[in-house]
Amino acid sequence: MEERTIQVDLCSMRKEKPKPDQLQFGKVFTDHMFIMDYSDPLGWHDARIVPYQPITVDPSAMIFHYGQSVFEGLKAYLSPEGDAQLFRPEKNMQRLNRSNDRLCIPPIDEEFALQAIKELVTLEKDWIPESEGTSLYIRPFVISTEPYIGVAPSRHYKFIVILSPVGAYYAEGINPVKIAVENHYVRTVKGGTGEAKTGGNYAASLKAQEMVANTGYAQVLWLDGFEKKYIEEVGSMNVFFKINGEVVTPALNGSILEGVTRNSVIQLLKHWNIPVVERRVSMEELYQAKKDGLLEEAFGTGTAAVISPIGQLTWNDEHLFINDGKTGAVAKRLYDTLTGIQYGKLEDPFGWIEKVEEVSRVK
Ligand SMILES: Cc1ncc(COP(=O)(O)O)c(C=O)c1O
Repeated sequence: MEERTIQVDLCSMRKEKPKPDQLQFGKVFTDHMFIMDYSDPLGWHDARIVPYQPITVDPSAMIFHYGQSVFEGLKAYLSPEGDAQLFRPEKNMQRLNRSNDRLCIPPIDEEFALQAIKELVTLEKDWIPESEGTSLYIRPFVISTEPYIGVAPSRHYKFIVILSPVGAYYAEGINPVKIAVENHYVRTVKGGTGEAKTGGNYAASLKAQEMVANTGYAQVLWLDGFEKKYIEEVGSMNVFFKINGEVVTPALNGSILEGVTRNSVIQLLKHWNIPVVERRVSMEELYQAKKDGLLEEAFGTGTAAVISPIGQLTWNDEHLFINDGKTGAVAKRLYDTLTGIQYGKLEDPFGWIEKVEEVSRVK
């Protein structure tokens, strides 16, 4: 039987909060965290909110050896009325369980996990920064903790949620980035773990990312792992191109992470009657479209940046400049609309916003 109650142990001293202009990504954490254990045959149990603290795990815990872990990333935003709100959090919970399934981790009750997140955010509400573009980043994750170094699915896990106040992604306004197409390394392959949000995918991406960062590129664009021909995604974002009036994004194929922002962008474009298709897109096609003057826009999508316009794509020795290195009209409209909805400044016709206070507290 799944545990349904959350014990709360409050910290005795609150930490000092960072100044609004000193907020960075992922360096400061709030006063409390959520934690819940899994063991065979008990299932998930002992759900609790406790003061933020180091956890103790055995050096033989399986996470350290075989990387059986998954995570999620979403944000809590403050509306003009002062409400804490989440953007499509159920999508993150669904993806968490898809990742769990791929990594042989037992599923977590999605409603209960969301309720736990809401309770934690409610408790930490005064950590949600107020200035424009800032938010409280929510990082739920699962690690395998069984003390055993045999290669097998762990029989013990911890599900933990930590919170971190983050600054505006675009401190100086939305700005196009330079992206390098990666021809050597691949992030994952079809049949691998690409569609799961698991640490190994990110470990595998570091080398290429480090190499391009040294030459002034923001991120890499990953190609498919078999032919290195078809576009998959950009760093930690999904990617869209506007070619001759139509918006194209790589179809989900098992190696691409299905972004919540990607899904929302597709819905918005359809709502606006802007043609949008999910299909395979090769680098050659993109290069040809650029040569023919048909490549109008390119942008990445993800929780961190929301929309990240791409001003330059470098492929082999070719530099493709897109929309004169400026933010395109579709990218701008998507950015304004999504952030408007997330921060409660625009109407939410899709029912994407979930207010945190709507949670009925379980005790
Ligand atoms: C590899 C990868 N692709 C795409 C995304 C975008 O997903 P989302 O829009 O859910 O943030 C992310 C970020 O979570 C990511 O890590």
